[in-house]
Amino acid sequence: MLVPTTMLPRTPLYRWLAVAFVVALVFVWHPKLDTTSLVAYTHTKPSSSPDPSNSAGLDPTSWVRQVLKTHSVGPDVSYAARTLQYIADEKERPLITEVDHALLPERFQNITIDSSTPLPIGTTLGVHVKQLSRPEDADASSVIFSVSTTLDRFNDDAMGPVKEFTRWLTDGKGNSNGAGLILALINCTDAELEGASKRLSSVGINATVMAANPSLDMPGRYVDLVRMLHNHPTASQRKYFALIDDDTFFPYISELIRRLFTYDYRKPYYIGTTTERVDWILANDAPMAYGGGGVFLTASSAKIIAEGNCLEKREDGKYVLDAQQGDRLLYNCFHRNSEVTLTYEPLLNQMDQFGDPSGFYESGDQPLSLHHFKSWHKAPVAKIHTVADACGEDCVLQRFKFKDNFIISNGYSVAEYPKGIDFDLEQTEFTFDVPADMPHPSVALFYRFGEGRKSLSKSGRKSQWVILDARKERDGNVKQIYLKQKSDDRWFEPEGENPARDSVIVLTWVP
Ligand SMILES: *[C@@H]1O[C@H](CO)[C@@H](O)[C@H](O)[C@H]1NC(C)=O
Ligand SMILES: *[C@@H]1O[C@H](CO)[C@@H](O)[C@H](O)[C@H]1NC(C)=O
Ligand SMILES: *[C@@H]1O[C@H](CO)[C@@H](O)[C@H](O)[C@H]1NC(C)=O
Repeated sequence: MLVPTTMLPRTPLYRWLAVAFVVALVFVWHPKLDTTSLVAYTHTKPSSSPDPSNSAGLDPTSWVRQVLKTHSVGPDVSYAARTLQYIADEKERPLITEVDHALLPERFQNITIDSSTPLPIGTTLGVHVKQLSRPEDADASSVIFSVSTTLDRFNDDAMGPVKEFTRWLTDGKGNSNGAGLILALINCTDAELEGASKRLSSVGINATVMAANPSLDMPGRYVDLVRMLHNHPTASQRKYFALIDDDTFFPYISELIRRLFTYDYRKPYYIGTTTERVDWILANDAPMAYGGGGVFLTASSAKIIAEGNCLEKREDGKYVLDAQQGDRLLYNCFHRNSEVTLTYEPLLNQMDQFGDPSGFYESGDQPLSLHHFKSWHKAPVAKIHTVADACGEDCVLQRFKFKDNFIISNGYSVAEYPKGIDFDLEQTEFTFDVPADMPHPSVALFYRFGEGRKSLSKSGRKSQWVILDARKERDGNVKQIYLKQKSDDRWFEPEGENPARDSVIVLTWVP
C-alpha cells in the first residue's frame, strides 16, 4: 500500500535529511572506491566539495569529447583516465618521482566518444610534488623583456606569440606578473601599434608597443632593443634587461627570476646560452649568446650597448662591427667596447636540434627557456604549461614513474615501456633528427646532451601519448588530454600491426 503523502511530515525532517546525506555520500564516493585508490588514499586528503560542473548538471568530460571531435579522433577509441591529486609537501623537485602505484590499473577500455554518455574520469591517486609556485605567485617586476617582430607574425593564429606570452607574463588570471615587455613592431601604422597594445593589455600583459626604427635591418633592430630597454620609463626599477625572440618561452618564471638574482645586478652582466651544435659554435668562432634562448643584461651592461655606437655602418652598407646576425652584433659590440664576456647559463636553451623533441621534453629537466617550438620542432608549450595552474610551475615537465611502467612527463607526454624500464633515466633519449649538414652527428650535440641513449622508436619498447590539449577547469584543477594516433608508426613492433584505434589518456590534476 502506498504511503499517503500526508504521512511524510510525521517522520522528523532531520531523519530525511540524514538519509539524503548518506545517499549523497555514497554517490559522491562510489566512483573512487576501488582497492588501488583506497591504498592511495592512505596518504591523500579527500576533497569534500563536489564538482561544480556536476552540480550544474553538466558533464565534466564534455570538453574532452569536443576536443577529440575537433581533432577528428575516433569516434571509436581506446580510452583510459586517472585523477591525480597533488600533495605539495616535497622540498625538492627531483629528476624523476617514483609513485608506488600503477597509473592505469584498469588499463584501457574501448569506447565510442560520439555518444552523449559521460566518459570515465578514473579513480584518484595521490602524488607528491614540491610546494606550489603557481603563475599567480610569481613576481617578475625586476625584469623587462624586449622583442622585435612583424605585425603579421604577431597577429598570426599559429605563429603569433600572445598565447605563450600570456603564460609567463601574467598571473594566469588576466593581470600582469610585474614583468615589463617592449614589443618593437616592424613597418606598421599607429593604428596597428595601438591594436597590438590593446590586445596585449586585454590579456594582462604590461607591454610598451613601439615602432621599430624603419631604417634598420634585422641585426640592427635586435641590438636597438637594448637602447629601448635602457630608455624605458621603468628602467630604473628593473634589475635585468632581456632580449628574446618571438618564439622564446619561459616555463619556470619564478625559478628564472631566482636564478637571475644569483647574478649581482649591480655588475655588468651578459648572460645567455650557446647553440647545442658544436659545429656551429666552431663555425661562428665566438663565445656569444644565441638570441633565441634569451639574453639577460644588467643596467650597466645595457648602457655599454645603448651608448656604444654599435650600429655604425661602412660605406658598403655593412656594419663596422661586421655581423650578419643580431646576437653576433651584440657580442661584437661588447667585445669592442668593454671587457664584458658571456656568462654561460646552461639552463637557458637555444634548441637548435631538429625533429622529434621527445628526448628533450622527457628528460625530467627544468629548462629555463625554450625556443624553436613552432618551427624546428613542434611542442605546444602553452598547453604543456597549463598544468602549472594546478600543481605549480615546478610540476611542469616533472616525470612521474609508476609501477606499471608508465612515465608521465607532465604536460608533454605519457609513455609506456611495455618491456620494462631497464635503461638509464638520467640519460636523454636521442630522438632528434640528424640534419644532413651535421658533420659528426655523434659529436655535434654531445656537449649539450651528453652520451644520450638510443631512440626507442620502432623498437616495441615504448608507446607514447602526446599532449593534445589542456584546460584549467577551475582554480587548482587542470585536465589534460594525451593522444596516441593509430597511424603513429613509431610505436609499432618491428613486425607488428597498426593498432585499430586511436588511444586517449585523460589526466585530471586536483588539489
Ligand atoms: C578493443 O577493440 C580492438 C579492436 O578494435 C580489439 O582488438 C581489442 O581487443 C579491444 N580491447 C578491449 C579491452 O576490449
Ligand atoms: C614594409 O612595408 C612596405 C609596404 O607595405 C613593404 O614594401 C616592405 O617590404 C615592408 N618592409 C618590411 C621590412 O617588412
Ligand atoms: C605597467 O607597469 C608600470 C611599471 O610598473 C606601471 O606603472 C603601470 O601602471 C603598469 N600598467 C599596467 C596597465 O598594469
